[in-house]
Amino acid sequence: MKKRIALLPGDGIGKEVVDVTVEVLKTVAEHFHHQFQFDYGLIGGDAIDQKGNPLPEETIAICKQADAIILGAVGGPKWDQNPMELRPERGLLALRKELDLFANLRPITTFDSLLDSSPLKKEYVNGVDFVIVRELTGGLYFGKPSERITYEGQEAVVDTLLYKRSEIERIIESAFEIASKRRRKHITSVDKANVLESSRVWREVAEEVAKRYPEVTLEHMLVDNAAMQLIRSPKQFDVIVTENMFGDILSDEASMITGSLGMLASASLSSTGLHLYEPIHGSAPDIAGKNIANPVATILSAAMMLRQSFGLEEEAKAIEKAVDNVLNSGTRTADLAQGNKAASTKQMAEEIKNALADDHAILNIMEAYS
Ligand SMILES: NC(=O)c1ccc[n+]([C@@H]2O[C@H](COP(=O)([O-])OP(=O)(O)OC[C@H]3O[C@@H](n4cnc5c(N)ncnc54)[C@H](O)[C@@H]3O)[C@@H](O)[C@H]2O)c1
Repeated sequence: MKKRIALLPGDGIGKEVVDVTVEVLKTVAEHFHHQFQFDYGLIGGDAIDQKGNPLPEETIAICKQADAIILGAVGGPKWDQNPMELRPERGLLALRKELDLFANLRPITTFDSLLDSSPLKKEYVNGVDFVIVRELTGGLYFGKPSERITYEGQEAVVDTLLYKRSEIERIIESAFEIASKRRRKHITSVDKANVLESSRVWREVAEEVAKRYPEVTLEHMLVDNAAMQLIRSPKQFDVIVTENMFGDILSDEASMITGSLGMLASASLSSTGLHLYEPIHGSAPDIAGKNIANPVATILSAAMMLRQSFGLEEEAKAIEKAVDNVLNSGTRTADLAQGNKAASTKQMAEEIKNALADDHAILNIMEAYS
C-alpha cells in the first residue's frame, strides 16, 4: 500500500516524539511491504519564527495532499507573551477548523505492566477501557467575541461558548456510532445542564439522537460529578461524549489512570476523511530537548492512523503488541520509571522497533510452516 503522511512535529518534545514515531512507521512499512511517503510541515512556534504565522498556507497544502496527518505538539514559553493571533496554539486550532477535525477520540486503557504506575489503587484501574469523544471545533475555544471589554464601567473580559445544533448532533451521533458498533453500548454524555443553556440543548440533542440507537443506553452526568467519578470508579465508563473544554480537561485527568500523559494517543476525525493523529500531551517545555519524553502516545497515535485511516488492522495491532511487549520487559521512560533507571526517548522507540521486527520474524516463520 502507498500512503502519504503529513508530519507536523511542532514545538518542544513534539519534534522528538514524531522523529522516533517515523522510525517505527518505517519499520512497519519494511516488514509489511508498504510505502509511506513523509512530508514535513511547520506549525506552532516554529512556524511563527520561520514564517510569521502559526499555520502557514504551505502547511495546509501539505496536509490536504496527504492521506493522514501526524502532529506532535505546539507551544512553549518563548511565545507566551505573543499577541493571541501569534500564539502557537492558534495554529492548531486553525488547523482543526480548516480541516473540520470535529471529533477527537481519546481511548483510555490500562497496560497490565503499568498498573503500579497509576496514582490510583490497582483494583480501581485494572481493566479500565473507555473512550472519550471530545467535540473539537466549537465551544469556548472558538466562540467570538473573545476579548477584554469595558462592562458597567469596569475592566472586564468575555469568552463566548457557541454551538450550532448541527455541531452538537454530529459529535453525539459519532459517539453513538462508536458505542453501538465498536464498544459495550453505553454512553455517558457529560455536560453542565444545571447551569449552562448550551448544556441543556446538548442534553436535548443527546436524547433525540438516542432514539435512533435503541441498543445503546444513554446516561447524563454533570461535569463536576464526571471529574469525581473518573477517579472513584473509572471502570463504569464505556464511551464519554462531551464538548470541547470539558473533554480537554477530563482527558488529561483520565490520563493519570494509565500512569502518564505520555501514554495517551488520540485521533481527530474530520467530515472529509482526512484525519489527524496526535498524542494528548503538549510540548512539555520542562523536558524538551533532553531525549527523555515518552514517545508511546505518539507511536500509539500512529497505530490508530494505520487502523482508522488506512484500514491496516494487522499493522496497528503489531505496534500495540510491540509497545505491550516492551513495557512487559520492564523498559520505562522517566515519567514511568519511578526513580529507577529510565530509557531515553530514542531507546524506547528502538526497543519498540526491535519488538516489532522480532514479532514479525516469528509470524513469518509460523506462516512458512503452517
Ligand atoms: N495539542 C497540543 O499541542 C497541546 C496540548 C496541551 C498543551 N499544549 C501546550 O504545551 C505547552 C506546555 O503545556 P503544559 O505543560 O500545560 O502541558 P504538557 O502536556 O506539555 O506537560 C504537562 C506535564 O506532563 C509532562 N509530559 C507531557 N508529555 C510527556 C511525555 N510525552 N513524556 C513525559 N512527560 C510528559 C510534562 O513534562 C509536564 O510536566 C503549552 O504551551 C501548552 O499550550 C499543547
